[in-house]
Order: sequence, then C-alpha cells, then structure tokens
Amino acid sequence: DEEEVDPVDTGVDDAQAVMVALAAPDVEILGITCCHGNTPLENVLKNTLRVLKVCNRLDIPVYRGCSVPLLARKQHAGDYHGKDGLGDVPDPDAPGLELLQKRKAPQAIVKMVKENPGEVTLVATAPLTNLAVAIQLDPTLPKKLKALYIMGGNTDSRGNTTVCGEFNFVTDPEAAYIVLDRFTCPTYIATWEFSCRNSLPRSFCDQWLAQNTEKAAFMKKIARLSMTKAQSADYQKEITAGKGFNACDTYAMAAAVNDTLLTESEEIAVTVELEGTYTRGMMVLDYMELLKKKHKAFVMKSVDLEKFKQMLMDCLNRNYEK
Ligand code: BDR
Ligand code: CA
Repeated sequence: DEEEVDPVDTGVDDAQAVMVALAAPDVEILGITCCHGNTPLENVLKNTLRVLKVCNRLDIPVYRGCSVPLLARKQHAGDYHGKDGLGDVPDPDAPGLELLQKRKAPQAIVKMVKENPGEVTLVATAPLTNLAVAIQLDPTLPKKLKALYIMGGNTDSRGNTTVCGEFNFVTDPEAAYIVLDRFTCPTYIATWEFSCRNSLPRSFCDQWLAQNTEKAAFMKKIARLSMTKAQSADYQKEITAGKGFNACDTYAMAAAVNDTLLTESEEIAVTVELEGTYTRGMMVLDYMELLKKKHKAFVMKSVDLEKFKQMLMDCLNRNYEK
C-alpha cells in the first residue's frame, strides 16, 4: 500500500488529480496540504474541501499552507482556472473552513513523513513553497520519503506563464530551486511540455464528462471555463501547442498512484534559473553534468495514454469509500 500527501493549489487539474488519487486502489491519502497558486490560498482551501465533499471524503485532513511565495511577488491564474480557481461556479453549500486541521501544512508534512518513514509519497501540483519550508523545518525529510512527484518546470524554453516559465516554478522560483536541490529522494517531474505532448483530445473529454454520475457533473461544471479556454485558437497557438486539454497535475498524480503508467523517463540533474530577464523560474537540465550534482531527477518522457484515460474515466465513476 502507498501513502500519500498531496500539496495542491486547487485548481481544475488539481481537482482532477485529487479525484484520481481517491479512486486508486491500495493508496491511502494521509492529507492534502494547500498552497497559494492558481488562486489565493483562501480559495484553494475552499476548493479542496469542495472536491472532497463531492467525493464523500471529508474525512481526509486538509491543511492550510503558505499564502505567498518565498521571495517572488505572488500571482494567480484566474484567466484559466476562474477567479475562484474552480471555474467560477460557486456552491452555496460548500463546506466551511472550520473543517481544516489546526496544524499548518509544512509542519503537517514533516509529521506525516516522520510517522511513516520510507512509506510516504509526496505529490506536488502547486508552487513548491510548502515543501521548501518543510525541508527547512526538517532537513532529513528527503531521507524518510519514498518518492516525490512534481508537476512543474519545462524541458525547453516554452513557457505557459512567462516567456520561458511554467506556472508552478515561475510562481515561486526559490522554492522550486530548494526542492530540486535538496529533495534527494527519487523525484519524478511531469513538465509543461510533457503535458502538452499528452494532451487529451476533445472527443475524449466529452466522453469522460458525459458519464452519468455526480462526480462527472461536478467536473463538467468546474472544467467548462478552462476547457473552453484550452480550445481557443489563441491559446492553442500561443500557449499549449498541444491539440487538446492539458491535464497537467493529473499526470503527476496518476504516475504516483500507478507505477505502470510511466513508460519512459530521462534521469538527469535539474535546477531552476533564479535570475534572467526572460528565464527566471525556468527549469534547467544539466545534460553535460557541469553542475556535478549527485542527485538526478526522472523527467517524464512518455506515458501509457490509454491507461491514463482509463484512470480518468474511473475516477468519475468509482466509489470513494475508505
Ligand atoms: C500548473 O499550473 C497550474 O495552473 C496548474 O494547476 C498546474 O499545476 C501548470 O503549469
Ligand atoms: Ca496545480
């Protein structure tokens, strides 16, 4: 059995990622730690609870994390995810924030990993601020982790937020730098280009969302804005360079909960550019091994897309009992 802690900035694709984890057999979700990102932290907290409510899993502990990046100026992605971060379709009966745990996210990560040494996988689908703070609290964290999965960064200079920067890394470059430098556990990265290469065709999305379940109806509602945006000519031309819907965070989560999904990855040392007028926040791949880093990451190259689609289908129609 796997045990998981998920740092999210819920977010439409974060919601999908959480639902994929909930539907995975033999995976126990220890907690969800929230971080600023797609939308301000208060929305992230609400959105996360909304997703858990739809899945009937409000028993999963949710933690309040960092509301701002370490050094960078905060930014959000309201154009794509909606001002509320979840497609701007509010739920008047959304669960209240009194359900949140008292402990803060970085402390919670440290505690959960300490109590389950060698068993916890962290899946990070947001800016990496909570993780960077957690490792300052406990520098031995990586030794006790089973693995780390990240959605973020890029393998060439194609950005989705700045000219060369992917949202999660560019939103908190210092945090991304610290995490890539110091998390020496097995680390798997689903980059922006990887997500573009594996984007989901519209025909699949229609079939996926047409399922007759409450979870499918919820997903259809919250994903409408971002899916429409992803289909627009401008977005296709300027941003995604893919032909469909980029399920970004969901690839990282799906690979974490199903170790047969990833078919190819490249083991390489990576870091993050912290300066540069156009390149701040961009992931740097050290092909020539000039940085002499001992720790290498697994940069995802390909997945079994049919298996991935099946996991998405299942996550909207499986029961989420404990
Ligand atoms: C990442 O940024 C966010 O908008 C998504 O949720 C994903 O984590 C993609 O660059
Ligand atoms: Ca995200």
